[in-house]
Amino acid sequence: MNILILGSGGREHALAWAVKQNPKCDRLIVAPGNAGIAALAECADIDILDGAGVVTFCEENAIDFVIIGPEAPLAAGVADACRQAGLLTFGPSAAAAKLEASKAFTKDICDACNAPTAAWARFSDPTLAKAYIRQKGVPIVVKADGLAAGKGVIVAAAETEALAAIDDILGGAFGAAGAEVVIEEFMDGEEASLFVLTDGTHALTVGTAQDHKRAFDGDTGPNTGGMGAYSPAPVLTAEIEAQAMAEIVLPTIREMARRGTPYSGVLYAGLMIDKGQARLVEYNARFGDPEAQVLMMRLGAQALDLMHACAEGRLADVHVNWADDHAMTVVMAAKGYPGPYARGSQIRGLEALPEDSRHMVFHAGTAERNASLVATGGRVLNVTARGETLRDARDAAYAMVDRIDWPGGFCRRDIGWRALQERRRK
Ligand code: AMP
Ligand code: GLY
Repeated sequence: MNILILGSGGREHALAWAVKQNPKCDRLIVAPGNAGIAALAECADIDILDGAGVVTFCEENAIDFVIIGPEAPLAAGVADACRQAGLLTFGPSAAAAKLEASKAFTKDICDACNAPTAAWARFSDPTLAKAYIRQKGVPIVVKADGLAAGKGVIVAAAETEALAAIDDILGGAFGAAGAEVVIEEFMDGEEASLFVLTDGTHALTVGTAQDHKRAFDGDTGPNTGGMGAYSPAPVLTAEIEAQAMAEIVLPTIREMARRGTPYSGVLYAGLMIDKGQARLVEYNARFGDPEAQVLMMRLGAQALDLMHACAEGRLADVHVNWADDHAMTVVMAAKGYPGPYARGSQIRGLEALPEDSRHMVFHAGTAERNASLVATGGRVLNVTARGETLRDARDAAYAMVDRIDWPGGFCRRDIGWRALQERRRK
């Protein structure tokens, strides 16, 4: 099988790494890819938001299977263009990807299928939005309806903050993504993510994970795209997972099919767990980044078979071979991230690290310059390890971190603290 993966981050490196281990994979191309991906696949510099261009590239390169990593091409309809051209594709249509691209759409779906989530209302008029905030009080959560690169959610502890968020969003700070705001009840609890493959009818859980969104130790500092993750998420017990599937994920899949826009691909359910019950925070239409890094490390080569079966509508025929293990990824970021940071600093020491089914450094933002590796992004490396226990995975990941020579980078030293603490208590 000739396979094309779209994307250029650590998630796509992890997807490529897993897919490449499967003997069914003949040729693997990642577009646009990065310096780490280039070590295991061909990289192609094409515009991944241009559906017609992606289709032409697939035809020219005899691609049999397209895997779409990030949300932007999904929202732009690249999966639709590929399917219309007869290409087998992993990733939802633009209509189905609205579960990520519009928060109000997701809330409507939750209401239609009675899925537990925060109480909510939508507004395009700032006066009405502010009146609603004053009536509900704080804490309260204000969200731009559309895709805002993770910056469109304001969890407001003070009313002034919530009111300012309304002015920002409806005032155009997020462009078209902020044409509407969604205002939500603040949910207390512990967050975890559930990853489900669905072909529109059948559903198959492929793992759970938790990430750390704050930049610094102790979950302090500004919000980021994620500074580390681990899988499985101990808070998502089998019982809570079953409840989330029965009350949230499966009703959503049925409602999407009922509307004539079946969801095919991976559905990432962000859950808030409180008192043994999960409620939906958000959906994403893709694997998480860095959650994919830990999921792929645990799934390995079978990830290709699962995504392939999903795309072919054969999910009912496959199952996951679970190993009783844990994985952790530690994000190394450029100093200054998520604020302004320097590009181009040199990274050394990676060649001496193990690369096997239990250890991998996935690249998120690197390039090769004059035969040396340099940082080109905010989140740069995902140092990932697997172990029998979460503690083993953590120790192995940080042992690798400590051998990386990158004065321009930093990482959190406490990834997994909550799960490790819970284990100690037990
Ligand atoms: P979202 O992009 O919708 O996932 O929101 C980003 C983050 O904001 C989530 O991961 C939560 O930490 C937080 N958040 C969003 N909605 C709520 C809510 N209703 N209650 C509490 N926290 C929330
Ligand atoms: N790590 C969070 C996300 O991928 O959305």
